[in-house]
Amino acid sequence: RSFCIPKVQSVAAMSTVTENLGSLKQQLEKLFGESLRVTVPDELDVPPIITPCKDLKHGDYQCNNAMSLFAKIKGKVPEFKKPQSVGEAIKNNVPKSDMIENCTIAGPGYVNITLSRQWMAERIHKMLADGIQTWAPKLPVQRAVVDFSSPNIAKEMHVGHLRSTIIGDTLARMLEFSNVEVLRRNHVGDWGTQFGMLIEYLFEQNQNWEAAPTEAIGDLQEFYKQSKTKFDEDSGFKERAQKAVVSLQGGEEKYRKAWAQICEISRKEFDKVYERLDIKLEEKGESFYNPYIPKALELLSKENLIEESEGARVIFVGGIKRPLIVVKKDGGYNYASTDLAALWYRLNEEKAEWIIYVTDVGQREHFEMFFAAARLAGWLPAEDKYPKVSHVGFGLVLGEDGKRFRTRSTEVVKLVDLLDEAKNRCKEALVERGKAQEWTGEELEQTAEAIGYGAVKYADLKNNRLTNYTFNFDQMLNDKGNTAVYLLYAHARICSIIRKSGKDIEELKKVGTLDLAHPSERVLGLHLLQFPEVVEEAVTNLLPNILCEYLYNLSEDFTTFYTNCQVVGSAEETSRLLLCEATALVIRKCFYLLGIKPVYKI
Ligand code: ARG
Repeated sequence: RSFCIPKVQSVAAMSTVTENLGSLKQQLEKLFGESLRVTVPDELDVPPIITPCKDLKHGDYQCNNAMSLFAKIKGKVPEFKKPQSVGEAIKNNVPKSDMIENCTIAGPGYVNITLSRQWMAERIHKMLADGIQTWAPKLPVQRAVVDFSSPNIAKEMHVGHLRSTIIGDTLARMLEFSNVEVLRRNHVGDWGTQFGMLIEYLFEQNQNWEAAPTEAIGDLQEFYKQSKTKFDEDSGFKERAQKAVVSLQGGEEKYRKAWAQICEISRKEFDKVYERLDIKLEEKGESFYNPYIPKALELLSKENLIEESEGARVIFVGGIKRPLIVVKKDGGYNYASTDLAALWYRLNEEKAEWIIYVTDVGQREHFEMFFAAARLAGWLPAEDKYPKVSHVGFGLVLGEDGKRFRTRSTEVVKLVDLLDEAKNRCKEALVERGKAQEWTGEELEQTAEAIGYGAVKYADLKNNRLTNYTFNFDQMLNDKGNTAVYLLYAHARICSIIRKSGKDIEELKKVGTLDLAHPSERVLGLHLLQFPEVVEEAVTNLLPNILCEYLYNLSEDFTTFYTNCQVVGSAEETSRLLLCEATALVIRKCFYLLGIKPVYKI
């Protein structure tokens, strides 16, 4: 194939642009930034340090600059005798703002900030009117690639790929919510010498396999294993397989067709999983980047990065002893050469500013090495600058026995079976609660799916992705504790409170007002307002568990509020219904970002 440069296709229209005020934290940083500018000598350009207070008794947020600043300016500014006086000055120099009720100094100069209750209530009300998109975080990039899922053709799509799919999708959703255009890429393993082996094997079974291919992925996997064994044991077959690779890569019709058929069989199987999990992905597999490899390697050569080593062509990157092989001894390309070409393409053709790769931690070294090679070549700036590359690694999924997760019968985990089981268990639980009589068949199915698939996703996402976790249906489907089931029920309960009030919530949004008079209303309100900064933290650190933790705490705060404050029939009914509605909205957005479908009644 010749070297051609396809056009960048425009992906998903940007969501409607609405006024974006930034998070509470950002707004406070702005105010305290201004204060710091007048408080400290010009040459000290210090960024404000604003964190939420751990104990709300002290305030909502605090500014922690005084101590470190005092150490820097001690003696230079005579009026600053102790850290407290620096804190005092910071506090006094904060520009007047409706946002802040008051500030106090505590300990060695912390400035504790209490937000204005009215301001908080108005801001929540405004979100109800303008939509939650106005709470989207702002990120310093416009276009990102998320390379995730990425199973291998003719091989099993194992639980590792399931993790990659779930984590990658969430990251893509958070970026999209932050108004970043996301190119969701399925970097499937659809190229390489193994295809010669498999095709040769298939042709030996059936000369015209490509005309009437086997339909089952299971067969393909079996053939793949057998062909691998034959390849290792039978030198005659090995030679024929190598010839088949040449025919395939040379573009011989019969071979291309067989290859395309194999890909199609696998693709259909992968798509079943994506459809169930509601995952959107665009396949650009390894074969797509193959034509770009010579050009990419030429660019690396020009920078004198490629050397000859034991018959292969390699790049030595600093720190790691083993070199990165980019052309194998037999002259063929490999995983690394493909990834270098793909990186070049994503940077130069697709103009991505952040490229995120989601795979198991076992591949960390591969990513570190080719990232390093790209930096040496000047394709990427220093690590903390954009365009940026990030490897999002994750740990293993373990079974009850503490070993790698496997389903009961076979060594291969059939992902579809796994999802079926989650759904069926949920359906049984719903039937037990009498829902088969109460709901239509369709409602029962949809709810069971939402809860079942949601539970599988949440059980994965709530852990720090780097740790291994144990796959346990009983645990993830428990309706108590930090599970999707508990959270989905909590959301449905809020919806039912609103429904049962008999009030038209859209009307209340227009005519009603919101107040946060009771302490548990205030806590809940503050937590709602922190949603934008939590999403920002989760997405910038590529840690979905941060959002899960927020969601769980939020529903706990709602429970406390609901225990302490009567909603329906109380004097504060309107305000409290609006607070319920805002909570439901934020919870739903969290679900959306985690790829979980909400349920409205239970
Ligand atoms: N196909 C690979 C695997 O199953 C994952 C590919 C990840 N993406 C990448 N650009 N290397 O392990």
